[in-house]
Amino acid sequence: AYSRRFHCLMMVDYIFYQTNSHFYYKYQKNHTLIFTKESIIRNCSCLADIRDCDYNLANLMCNCRTVLPSTMEKTNYNSDLTIWFTDTSVLEMLLNFTRVCDLKLSFCGTAPLPTEYLTIWGLRKLRVKNKVKGQFPEQSVTISSSSNHEKEDFLAMHNKDRQMLVYISFLDTSLFNGYSLLKSYSVENVSSITEHFPSLLYSDVFSTSDNKSYVVTFIY
Ligand SMILES: *[C@@H]1O[C@H](CO)[C@@H](O)[C@H](O)[C@H]1NC(C)=O
Ligand SMILES: *[C@@H]1O[C@H](CO)[C@@H](O)[C@H](O)[C@H]1NC(C)=O
Ligand SMILES: *[C@@H]1O[C@H](CO)[C@@H](O)[C@H](O)[C@H]1NC(C)=O
Ligand SMILES: *[C@@H]1O[C@H](CO)[C@@H](O)[C@H](O)[C@H]1NC(C)=O
Ligand SMILES: *[C@@H]1O[C@H](CO)[C@@H](O)[C@H](O)[C@H]1NC(C)=O
Repeated sequence: AYSRRFHCLMMVDYIFYQTNSHFYYKYQKNHTLIFTKESIIRNCSCLADIRDCDYNLANLMCNCRTVLPSTMEKTNYNSDLTIWFTDTSVLEMLLNFTRVCDLKLSFCGTAPLPTEYLTIWGLRKLRVKNKVKGQFPEQSVTISSSSNHEKEDFLAMHNKDRQMLVYISFLDTSLFNGYSLLKSYSVENVSSITEHFPSLLYSDVFSTSDNKSYVVTFIY
């Protein structure tokens, strides 16, 4: 299941406007925002950027619906996804072993988070925000590969049969405690995760198949 083709939608949707004699483009795209408050999970489609952790505003401005944890399915997100969370159990439900290209995580809780690892496929851009007014407001990580520039990636999107680049990231959830700056470390050209990282606890879920080149990133 993990080897299915997956491409990030890095394209944007534009709307063409005309005012008097001027034409202009406007970025027009709904964003997916998922947040949890108490035990309720809301999945929203928002046109505007909503201030982090402002649940009331999100309910007001976005098109939201409640998701029952029992019926929740892991989904792939090939554009952007924002999650506001207060504990790691929800992140685990929403994100562990899913595919997300462009992820923004905002920690809205106050209790320190334990060190746990989230495995995210296909992650190319991560933004992290803590509510805690510490020294570290918004931080971000962009993951790319030296063998595959963004532009080529985009152009080769439909005929990348030669060698399949697979991005996989491991994210330490204690990074939201803001004790230090966000760091990331990528290892490229990994042909087999089991072979190169034998001590990863659950490395057995990674297929050792043919012609895949992994970009393995640790975010902490
Ligand atoms: C949230 O909604 C989007 C569509 O707006 C959908 O693709 C996605 O699967 C939903 N996620 C969850 C966890 O329900
Ligand atoms: C996009 O967001 C607006 C509100 O922000 C909402 O009214 C509209 O239904 C959303 N569109 C989709 C396709 O969800
Ligand atoms: C993600 O799944 C792995 C394997 O089941 C597990 O070891 C890990 O603790 C999970 N991550 C979180 C944040 O729960
Ligand atoms: C990975 O392989 C590509 C092409 O095979 C090469 O251009 C690139 O330098 C390699 N990267 C590293 C970090 O070894
Ligand atoms: C792996 O790549 C080689 C050459 O690049 C190709 O001949 C072969 O068919 C590929 N194998 C698979 C299973 O895609």
